[in-house]
Amino acid sequence: MANPVSLHPYNTFHIAASAQQLVIATTVEQLHAAWQEARHQQHDVLLMGEGSNMLFLEDFGGTVILNRIMGIALTETATDWHLHVGAGENWHQLVCYSLEQGIMGLENLALIPGCVGSSPIQNIGAYGVELKQVCEYVDVLDLENGKTFRLSNEACQFGYRESVFKHHYRQGYAVIAVGFKLTKQWQPVLAYGDLRNLDSTTVTAKEVFEAVCQMRRSKLPDPAVTGNAGSFFKNPVVQPAAFEKIKEEFPTVPAYPQPDGAIKLAAGWLIDQCHLKGYVQGAAAVHRHQALVLINQGGASGAEIKALARHVRETVAERFGIWLEPEVRFIAAHGEVDAVGALA
Ligand code: FAD
Ligand code: EPU
Repeated sequence: MANPVSLHPYNTFHIAASAQQLVIATTVEQLHAAWQEARHQQHDVLLMGEGSNMLFLEDFGGTVILNRIMGIALTETATDWHLHVGAGENWHQLVCYSLEQGIMGLENLALIPGCVGSSPIQNIGAYGVELKQVCEYVDVLDLENGKTFRLSNEACQFGYRESVFKHHYRQGYAVIAVGFKLTKQWQPVLAYGDLRNLDSTTVTAKEVFEAVCQMRRSKLPDPAVTGNAGSFFKNPVVQPAAFEKIKEEFPTVPAYPQPDGAIKLAAGWLIDQCHLKGYVQGAAAVHRHQALVLINQGGASGAEIKALARHVRETVAERFGIWLEPEVRFIAAHGEVDAVGALA
């Protein structure tokens, strides 16, 4: 049997887990053949982009397939730009490419790590924009039969860090391309954070891009330097009664009302109120500038990060009665495991 392959370079937490085999697929045919071959060997299969939303709890005993299907095709109508983008393209490079072409609308999503093909999976979002606002369709490969099909934006069932790819299409399907529709009637989205300081009548998409990059660099650790997977937990959505209780004690609690009357709270704020910012446990730590980000201080194992996540989750639950749910996907020896269950 071949030697295990280190996944250290392939996950942004820089966990030194291994896989039995690693295949880089640059075409749909290669991706399908790699999956079939792995199944023939009775290997479990893990699809990966850039590993920026994953925590390896231990070595993965199967085949990792890295999706590196490239290519960007640009077309236009009188009203819109259309981009058809291979799933293996880097997300931030796509944002830069679109701006270079004079296409606006992706600037709020600058500097999000990962591949374009992963962007619909959790409906990536930042600074007031989510993928669902710009995604026209997602092309999918059925790994069992090798057939491809297209899902419309609506069929993707996008929600906050949610989509059909976490449910019906979680197993046995690969995203192979994403289609974007970007209007030529661009309107800046300036409702979030420091973007509010920009003048909507004169601001350019390039200026929004620069402001987003600056805010992100001031808060979020660069995975090239410090291992992390961005926000470790999702922001919890609570009912008004639970929110009012917290507000009595903390009148300035950050809160984002949802269309259905529920309130989204900031998990980073909740963790911060528990005085966990900068908290260190072994080689894992809560980031000093953003309490929602857990970091690998160097040489941490997935189990160490998990132990810290459990401590953070239990502390927040004790203080506020809110159980945070991980955004990061947990990977064990045979593939993904339920992250909430793993922390219980
Ligand atoms: P991976 O981590 O490789 O994979 C994620 C999941 O998708 C896994 O379950 C994997 O099996 C599956 N998968 C991967 N490729 C495919 C495919 N082709 N077909 C089917 N399934 C597939 N996210 C945000 O939403 N907003 C942010 O602002 C943000 N900021 C971040 C900042 C930092 C510093 C970091 C490290 C992460 C941040 N993230 C953010 C999370 C992460 O960037 C996104 O989730 C990203 O889309 C993950 O892309 P990836 O290619 O690395 O996916
Ligand atoms: N806050 C604190 N202390 C902290 C962190 C945050 O008090 O340590 C407060 C902030 O002051 C602010 C609020 O919490 O009032 C929200 O903080 P921030 O604007 O930094 O955003 P977030 O809710 O922590 C979310 C996304 C990020 C995305 C940013 C910007 C989730 C889980 N996270 O973070 O996405 O980049 O908004 O839009 O929704 C990711 O998903 O990996 C990610 C980084």
